[in-house]
Amino acid sequence: MALIAPSMLSADFLNLGSEIEMVNNSEADWFHLDVMDGRFVPNISYGMPIIAHMKRTAKKTLDVHLMVEDPERYLEDFKKAGADYLTIHYETGYHLHRTLTSIRALGMKAGLAINPHTPVEMVQDIIQEIDLLLVMSINPGFGGQKFLPLTYAKIRKAKELINAAGANTLIEIDGGVTLDNAADIVAAGADVLVAGNTVFAAADPTATIKKLKELTK
Ligand code: DX5
Ligand code: ZN
Repeated sequence: MALIAPSMLSADFLNLGSEIEMVNNSEADWFHLDVMDGRFVPNISYGMPIIAHMKRTAKKTLDVHLMVEDPERYLEDFKKAGADYLTIHYETGYHLHRTLTSIRALGMKAGLAINPHTPVEMVQDIIQEIDLLLVMSINPGFGGQKFLPLTYAKIRKAKELINAAGANTLIEIDGGVTLDNAADIVAAGADVLVAGNTVFAAADPTATIKKLKELTK
């Protein structure tokens, strides 16, 4: 069964408290929190102060996805804000090994995200340093985009690479996950599904989370 991580980017920010309660009381496993700087991606979302507030009521793992340049400048800040998983992008770093090691040294799980154009093989030599490999299934920046089918082959490759290395890295898929493709994504080898629009634009978000969970059994 896959872990489900609703992306709070699609939540109603005027009612963030009740949106968090909805996720707390649902079958969701994690909160997926998207931090965007307007540089690495064209959009700007929210940062540490909002996450620190969320942490006060969120009862599940905080999975923080940094879409920012120079993420190594902010590792301690996100630890203080309450991140459990901290994911940086492959495309942002000259010294990823050092940054991933620092994330773990701070007591967080280390995540590495790859954009659609980045081959899975690029992470091969540092796979042991990565707790979570986030394979982007859209170009990052916005919720509600369409899933890129090239992702399926990348998931299968990632699974092979992780198994061959004997690593415990989880594969997370982010972008365009729907009730129609969730089962196929998990069949390809994904462990964690992020879902923004599919959950928060649904008439019944709690029931949609439950459906996603059932589809990935
Ligand atoms: C986009 C973010 C995603 C986004 C997913 O850059 O990383 O987490 O919220 O949204 P949906 O599920 O709507 O594609
Ligand atoms: Zn994300």
